[in-house]
Amino acid sequence: MLKIALSKGRIFKETLPLLKAAGIEPLDDPESSRKLILNTNHEDVKLVIIRATDVPTYVQFGAADIGVAGKDVLMEHGGEGIYEPLDLGIAKCRLMTAGLVNADPVNGRKRVATKFVNVARKYFESRGEQVEVIKLYGSMELGPIVGLSDLIVDVVDTGNTLKANGLEPIDHIADISSRLIVNKAAMKMKHERIQSLIDRIRGALA
Ligand code: ATP
Ligand code: PRP
Repeated sequence: MLKIALSKGRIFKETLPLLKAAGIEPLDDPESSRKLILNTNHEDVKLVIIRATDVPTYVQFGAADIGVAGKDVLMEHGGEGIYEPLDLGIAKCRLMTAGLVNADPVNGRKRVATKFVNVARKYFESRGEQVEVIKLYGSMELGPIVGLSDLIVDVVDTGNTLKANGLEPIDHIADISSRLIVNKAAMKMKHERIQSLIDRIRGALA
């Protein structure tokens, strides 16, 4: 059995053509089905549908052999137990700090709201800046508006979400795209199958 972990939404949609090129097609649509494990046209290939943030965890512990995860989520996870053989070039965005337009200067330690707490801590540490990091699970843009934080760390694509909420991007932390990830033990045990899948997806990307 080969289990592939994917999240609903943009990653599923953008991965579908790549899987198709590798000969794998789901038999259900995760947007309409309530199933968490989707069958495919191969009896021994299943798609495990989980939250984007959980994909590296499933792959790390071998609950899925393979997955597709944003580099932002991988940076936050740390990448333990995981190989990252392919940049799929999908779901592209940037990880940035942002704050209110024309914000007053902050006296003392800045507060930073984000779901990427490890990334944020590392980033500000690397700049020698001491900040207080506040963990959120979504809608980070609200932080500075309601006075929860001075800054946020979040992904930005068009910048429309920031703009619509009176925020502006400040510092660029990393360019983000989604990666194919593989459990290290599975890469050894199921080498031929996984390598052939990687090669076919690489071919489709080219
Ligand atoms: P979770 O459901 O676990 O909270 P999420 O809601 O962030 O995760 P998605 O919105 O599907 O999940 O995002 C999946 C990945 O797509 C992110 O990890 C990031 O790499 C990328 N991404 C997020 N927002 C955008 C965007 N606006 N444009 C392009 N790529 C994005
Ligand atoms: C993501 C992210 C930002 C937004 C950035 O949200 O959390 O809020 O995209 O994109 P933009 O710069 O083009 O506006 P998404 O649309 O995925 O919603 P969700 O995280 O709430 O699922």
